[in-house]
This record gives sequence, C-alpha cells and structure tokens, in this order.
Amino acid sequence: IVAGDRAGLVKAKHSLGIAASGATLALVPTMGALHEGHRSLIRLAREQADHVAVSIFVNPLQFGPNEDFTRYPRTFDADLETCADEGVSIVFAPSADDMYASDRQVSVSSGRMGTIVEGAFRPGHFDGVLTVVLKLFNLVQPDIAVFGRKDAQQLAVIRRMVADLDVPVSVVGAPTVREADGLALSSRNRYLSPHERHTALTLSRALFTGARGRTPAEIVTEARAVLDAEPEVALDYLVLVDPATFTEVGDDHRGEAVLAVAARVGATRLIDNVAITL
Ligand code: PAJ
Repeated sequence: IVAGDRAGLVKAKHSLGIAASGATLALVPTMGALHEGHRSLIRLAREQADHVAVSIFVNPLQFGPNEDFTRYPRTFDADLETCADEGVSIVFAPSADDMYASDRQVSVSSGRMGTIVEGAFRPGHFDGVLTVVLKLFNLVQPDIAVFGRKDAQQLAVIRRMVADLDVPVSVVGAPTVREADGLALSSRNRYLSPHERHTALTLSRALFTGARGRTPAEIVTEARAVLDAEPEVALDYLVLVDPATFTEVGDDHRGEAVLAVAARVGATRLIDNVAITL
C-alpha cells in the first residue's frame, strides 16, 4: 500500500488491522535510493514487528545550500520493487509540499550535540533530521523505528530526542552493511568513479586499522596514519567518541566508543565509523 499523506496512512493502517487488532508496526525512515543497507534495516524491522512501513522522502531541511539535495539519487520505482520484495506493508512517500507548510515556524533543535563532529561541518543538518523524523513518527505512529549505525551521530541525536521529548517510539540500531572489500554501502557511493571508489576504501581501512589499537591515542594515531598516506582523501574529521554523546573520549575511557571519520573523495563526501570496546 502506497500512501502520500496522513489520510492515506490512516486508511492503510486500518486495512492492515494495525491499531484495531493490536498488530505492531515498525518504521524504517529513508531517503530512497534503497540499497542492501536499507534492506537489512527492513529485515530487522520485520523480525521485530508484525508490519513494516518504509518512508521515502528526500528531506530538504537536512541539506545545506551547497549540498546535493537536487542531485540526490531518486529511484522511486526500483525502491517500490525493493519494498515489495522485502515484504513491506506500507510505503509512505509524501511530497515536500505535503510535509512542509509554506508558513511553518516550529522545528526541533538538536542542541549542542547537533553542532559537534558531523554537525560542525553541516550546520542545521541534525535539526533538519530531527524535525523530519519527529514528523514521520507523528504521521506513521510506529511502535518501533530502525536506524543504521552507519550514521552513528544521527542515531545518537535521535535517541536523545526520544529521551528528552518523551517520544513513544522504541529506537533500534542496526549494524552497518559493507561491500566485501569493506566500503560501507551508501546511496552516495554511486557518485564515485571507479578510481574514486578505490580511494574511498581508505576510510574503512583506516577504521579497521585503528580498531586494532589498544588505547584511544593509539587508535586515533594508527587510523590517522592510513588516511594521511592517501593524498586524494580530504579529511574532515577523525574522532574517537562516546556513542551516546559524540564527545571525544580520553585515555581513561572504558566501555563502548565509536571511531568516526568523514572525508571528501573528489566531489563526494563520505562518512563511516566502527564501534570499539575499550
Ligand atoms: P538514508 O541515508 O536513506 O538512510 C536511511 C537509513 O539507512 C538510516 O538509518 C541509515 O543509517 C541507514 N543506512 C544507510 N546506509 C547503511 C548501511 N550501509 N548499513 C546499514 N544502514 C545503513 O539517514 C537518512 O536517510 C535520513 O537522514 C533520514 C533518517 C531518513 C531522515 O531524513
């Protein structure tokens, strides 16, 4: 069932018996151009709920003025086939006009967490993400929502919003899906030329090398050396952070940490991360 607005969603949920019969619903928010990473989120969602809704919406609010909003890949027909293939019950694909009234005023602020690490390079990005995610939650009203750990800071700010605003949705994090050679799947990988794709492998290689280090300083230094050896990678940041707050961890840190990287390869900006237990 494909829905484009709140009324369509209500009808779809009614005909599936969600709400009435107590069947549970999991939401997988996406911007389309679905790949194997999105499929893995859908499969995880199916394990955790009776029905899965996938939203497909390229959210203008989360793109900066010089980012790739207009050229972001749009593959709606193939995405519908992927959803059918994966047993998705509802595809929610609103238009930008349906999502955002021209006189809209109120939005979600991601706070300081939205201004550090990735947020320092993309001002307003996480506010845009949280605003659309809260709207999607309010429209679809899922019991659970699944997000990839590939976007680790996005997952962290969403968990923070759910806690701080008492949003009645359980957030589930899903593992990063990679190509056999280590490259994390991303809709933006299709921008890469074969040569750039080869260069882009430096990111995951640096993270895996760093993950073998024993202390925070060693982890960052060893990952950094791999990145510095590749002049065609323009590094934005490499940090070892607390997965919940995205603040950098010191040498006394114990427990979970995330080694996160962002870099430009040619005109394409890529992010990746690995979880490390210290
Ligand atoms: P998008 O980039 O389409 O990603 C949708 C979901 O797929 C996110 O939760 C993302 O973390 C996950 N994902 C992407 N690549 C993955 C991979 N290789 N392995 C596992 N999961 C992966 O993230 C967004 O859209 C948007 O910001 C959104 C949350 C939809 C709000 O607009």
